[in-house]
Amino acid sequence: MREVAKVASIIPGNIRMETLIKKTAEYIASSKYAVALTGAGISVESGIPPFRGKGGLWEKFDPMEFAHIDAFMNNPKKVWEMFMREMKGMLVESKPNDAHLGLARLEELGILKTIITQNVDGLHQSAGSKDVIEFHGNFAWLRCLECGHRCQTVDINLDHIPPRCDCGGIYRPDCVFFGEGIPPNELDRSQQAASQCDLMLVIGTSAIVQPSAFMPVIAKQSGATIIEINPEPTPLTGTTSTLLVQEKAGKAMRQIITEVERLLPGKK
Ligand code: OAD
Repeated sequence: MREVAKVASIIPGNIRMETLIKKTAEYIASSKYAVALTGAGISVESGIPPFRGKGGLWEKFDPMEFAHIDAFMNNPKKVWEMFMREMKGMLVESKPNDAHLGLARLEELGILKTIITQNVDGLHQSAGSKDVIEFHGNFAWLRCLECGHRCQTVDINLDHIPPRCDCGGIYRPDCVFFGEGIPPNELDRSQQAASQCDLMLVIGTSAIVQPSAFMPVIAKQSGATIIEINPEPTPLTGTTSTLLVQEKAGKAMRQIITEVERLLPGKK
């Protein structure tokens, strides 16, 4: 995983929000194979801060000091004490919002086939989504660096840092650190989903971390329509994406789902 580009500010036209919501719903209702790519922004309304921008985690923590595999291996105590402890607290308390629930509803309607998420919070699964590719792994599970034993993060007592397995090995989260590769199965499945879809909803990602940010490009090159839902433009805006619904994900998805259900009255 690596960060490669900075945001270019291109906002498509002066289209009214109501029109954007309707257009997005029309694309969704007529899609035969929709895929979503989600990022930290989709969980902001669930109380989890994003990584970048104002109030983002990387304002408080230098990612190279707390989220790089070398930093973890050199000083797991520090990374657990200062970063992972806070992550655990946030993730255990959070609940899915209307954007997670909306995507689960689209899967239930048979429209959305897969979610590719960069998030490690498990909120898509909590919302009821079944086909979720965890591109950057998840924080719900830990694995021992020595024997590979896995256990759930909620069951771990953080009185002693770093947490250790019965074998004495240190536990690491099952997520992808900077400097590590994407799990091959997740990468393969994501590339396949991106090349198969006719519509990709790109929700709450700054689209500057690779290779996840390349999934909309693959989808576009394969003929799909790309729609972003994000209060801010991204490097995809006006280049790879056809529409930017410039709104908070939960608020936008609530309206989009109402409109999709109006367009597809026969579907339960
Ligand atoms: P970022 O923090 O880079 O970007 C969050 C995006 O969400 C920004 O584009 C915001 O404008 C947008 N946003 C903020 N509030 C929103 C809301 N209510 N609704 C919709 N969008 C909103 O997060 P990611 O793109 O997910 O990797 O970052 C990619 C990867 O970089 C992460 O997976 C993480 C990080 O380093 C790991 O550490 C494993």
